[in-house]
Amino acid sequence: MIPPLTGDAGLRPVPPPLLVEGLSFAWADDRPALQGCRLRIPAPGLWMLVGSNGSGKSTLLRLIAGLLQPSAGSIRTGLRPALVFQNPDHQLLLPSCGSDVQLGMPQGLTAAERSERLQQALAQVGLEGLAGRPIHTLSGGQKQRLAIAGALASEASLLLLDEPTALLDPASQQEVVGLISRLCRRREAPLTALWITHRLEELHHCQGAARMEAGQVGPWQEGAALHRQLTPLPAGRADG
Ligand SMILES: Nc1ncnc2c1ncn2[C@@H]1O[C@H](COP(=O)(O)OP(=O)(O)OP(=O)(O)O)[C@@H](O)[C@H]1O
Ligand SMILES: [Mg+2]
Repeated sequence: MIPPLTGDAGLRPVPPPLLVEGLSFAWADDRPALQGCRLRIPAPGLWMLVGSNGSGKSTLLRLIAGLLQPSAGSIRTGLRPALVFQNPDHQLLLPSCGSDVQLGMPQGLTAAERSERLQQALAQVGLEGLAGRPIHTLSGGQKQRLAIAGALASEASLLLLDEPTALLDPASQQEVVGLISRLCRRREAPLTALWITHRLEELHHCQGAARMEAGQVGPWQEGAALHRQLTPLPAGRADG
């Protein structure tokens, strides 16, 4: 059952987790990657973007994460963003699982608080007990879940995932999309996630999906509907 796209049913308006308006950015002078881009995430949950190569998806995520500065427009969010990349080897920096997850934790925590936060983050991604494990001994799916644990330990509540399953086998892909889906639907403090994918079957896990083309994001649709729209009909079948 897909929940409604609007906020709660009460009378009090709830600010959306993310509101991007009029966003423009160009890597070079010639052609802008984004021009007047608008994106409104109406509620916590898992939201997906699809679009052709070069349509501006990764650029948009980097702008939202604050890694790039727009030439125009605004990004409004009350949430702390964290990026999760396609290749966890580009993200995981320290040799052991525990040391890596601790890297992004806020300053000023006591040793006991750090330890507790580490255990919690590992448990949330199903890697409990692996704090001492060398990262190179993890599977691809476990590495990606560890990167997500790092984001959780850093108090991020807006996860920006750039094709996080592109390098994973189908079983690990299911693990990661299932994990993010659960974190975004949990009753207490559900996360907001913006997930870029080229793997259209993943659209069935999201609250809403939108197409990005030429630096602009289209309207939210049901993931399954967008999947159907983007899947070519078998040869010999009439379009209709
Ligand atoms: N580091 C960079 N330097 C220069 N131009 C870049 C850089 N990164 C992206 N671009 C350009 O910006 C535009 C948008 O690229 P972007 O990577 O955001 O697309 P994308 O939708 O993520 O594509 P893909 O599906 O291939 O990942 C493209 O024209 C691309 O060539
Ligand atoms: Mg990209």
